[in-house]
Amino acid sequence: MAVTRNGAGRQLAVAGARLFSSATARAVANESGAAAVTKGLSPNVAAAWTKTSTVYWAQRGYSTGARSQSTVALGDGEHEREKRAESDAVSGSSAAGVSSDNKDEKGVVSYWGVPPSRVTKEDGSEWKWTCFRPWETYKSDLSIDLKKHHAPTTFLDKLAYWTVKSLRWPTDIFFQRRYGCRAMMLETVAAVPGMVGGALLHCKSLRRFEHSGGWIKALLEEAENERMHLMTFMEVAKPKWYERALVFTVQGVFFNAYFLGYLISPKFAHRVVGYLEEEAIHSYTEFLKELDKGNIANVPAPAIAIDYWQLPANATLRDVVLVVRADEAHHRDVNHFASDIHYQGRELKDAPAPLGYH
Ligand SMILES: [Fe+2]
Ligand SMILES: [Fe+2]
Repeated sequence: MAVTRNGAGRQLAVAGARLFSSATARAVANESGAAAVTKGLSPNVAAAWTKTSTVYWAQRGYSTGARSQSTVALGDGEHEREKRAESDAVSGSSAAGVSSDNKDEKGVVSYWGVPPSRVTKEDGSEWKWTCFRPWETYKSDLSIDLKKHHAPTTFLDKLAYWTVKSLRWPTDIFFQRRYGCRAMMLETVAAVPGMVGGALLHCKSLRRFEHSGGWIKALLEEAENERMHLMTFMEVAKPKWYERALVFTVQGVFFNAYFLGYLISPKFAHRVVGYLEEEAIHSYTEFLKELDKGNIANVPAPAIAIDYWQLPANATLRDVVLVVRADEAHHRDVNHFASDIHYQGRELKDAPAPLGYH
């Protein structure tokens, strides 16, 4: 589904308040909000998030919410009352002002007593996302070289290169210039290799009783980052039923193919991903061209993107595409690097993983 001017307007109306980040909401609520809108998030916000004075976990629970207790807890009313009193005491002492705000919130009541996490921003407002936390957000490095390319010389590299190029052909035919939809669909595939590679390295680490050099975490980070791309693009291009069906099928094939490929030759698998990322950079560059020509409406950035990439509150889709493209360039580097390590007859654990490389 293309993000056209009309289509985007309709999608925005459907998505409603969900599209606006907590940063935007704050600015609107505040009478002097104009300054806040342009101010956006502080550049040092990532560092500030880690301070215990601004980010804290308040133990709550056993609140007057949905009674989805475990079977062990059912019928144990006395125990539950005790726990609730204990929990209230904790809330009152460690997170003053929080418990009273959350009396109406619904929580899952459980015998196991895992406290719901509660995180606030630097300004004390609530962190609204449960899928990622403030300390996982970052400012994208847009200065990365987008034109870097690994010239295929060996047979394996050429095979990887032409495998990716041959996949581009049906993709171009299917999506044409519907870049919003194309991005969303391709991200469902892009998030697979990191998870598969990370899982296989994890198992290898267990089997061989050895460290992974940080590569398990690096590959899982990549998978998570790709999944956040998907969570972002599905806000601006809602998948239709047949697109969901296509994702279902493609995932079944690609997951297993990549799994086998990685088992047989991680050198080849990482090279394939390196070339896939080069193609992703190309796709997002075309996306930007369409935005600049006005063929795709430059709608406000989804709230999740504003918070994840620490974008200003008035960021647009164009800003989002820029940071996503920079992410793809980083993935390209990481995967070509991983393949090069194997080409030098070494294992990934022999070279420190580029953790946090954004
Ligand atoms: Fe991506
Ligand atoms: Fe990527």
